[in-house]
Amino acid sequence: MTVLEILQRSTEYLAARGVDSARLNAELLLSHVLQKPRLRLYLEFDRNVTEADTARARELVRRRGHREPLQHLTGTAAFLGHELEVSPAVLIPRPETEVLAQAAIRLLSGREEPSPLRVLDFGTGSGCLAIAIAAAVPFAEVHALDLSTAALDTATRNARRSGVDRIRFHLGDGFAALQSASGLLPGDLDLLVSNPPYIPTGDLASLDPEVRDHDPRAALDGGADGLHFYRRLSREAPAWLKPGAPLLLEFGDGQAPALQSLFQDGGWRLEAVEKDLSGTDRILIVRSPTA
Ligand SMILES: C[S@@+](CC[C@H](N)C(=O)[O-])C[C@H]1O[C@@H](n2cnc3c(N)ncnc32)[C@H](O)[C@@H]1O
Repeated sequence: MTVLEILQRSTEYLAARGVDSARLNAELLLSHVLQKPRLRLYLEFDRNVTEADTARARELVRRRGHREPLQHLTGTAAFLGHELEVSPAVLIPRPETEVLAQAAIRLLSGREEPSPLRVLDFGTGSGCLAIAIAAAVPFAEVHALDLSTAALDTATRNARRSGVDRIRFHLGDGFAALQSASGLLPGDLDLLVSNPPYIPTGDLASLDPEVRDHDPRAALDGGADGLHFYRRLSREAPAWLKPGAPLLLEFGDGQAPALQSLFQDGGWRLEAVEKDLSGTDRILIVRSPTA
């Protein structure tokens, strides 16, 4: 079969299975199989594809039609210019989280301290936030924690892959992960960033199959109202942050008002609510209590 024939058949199949952007998915899968940039396919529509590559493409398209995420089939996801390994062990990094990373980088880059700024990524998953921050802010001492051993292994490989060797990874449940031999003491942190699990438990069943069946549940489930981790951070983070230091959080659709009250009630100062690329409120920036 030719490149064009494979693309046409794959697109029809994926569209019939309810996959969004079916043609784009077909192109990305075929370019992955042929190890060529996607746009190169346009110059080679009439080229005959070998039987072996046709069979590989057909199998990947079949799996995509069964709603396995594209990134699990190619094995990678892009995040602010970094190509990261992803698998069912970690949340696939989302474009809205790039906005969170950029906000953290902006705040850190505006600082002029000669001493290293200590940063923590709470719930690092693939390591996307920690890696993007460490790569962009050379004077930051970046720590990253996660409850999942498999996630931390992936994040460690991703840091190496991105050429970033300054991240210290910590395994454990929230701040308890920092208590043994982490090199960090309470009150040490200059900035805390987190994209915590924020989906209300009752909403998990109605998520798209790509998310519901393939992202780790521990990366999604934010408790009955989705706010479990924000309550924990509001309570526990002041002990680890310097007074007045920023906490940057991603949050889910419609959660901004509840989060603003929650943090203000906890004595935090509201700095900003920022939007994602689709214009939806997505990032909360608050400053830790000073008294
Ligand atoms: C929504 S994912 C975010 C992953 C990554 N930071 C990103 O933005 O793509 C949340 C992460 O928090 C981790 N996590 C969940 N509960 C945790 C806990 N109690 N302590 C530490 N990490 C936790 C999960 O394993 C998951 O990797």
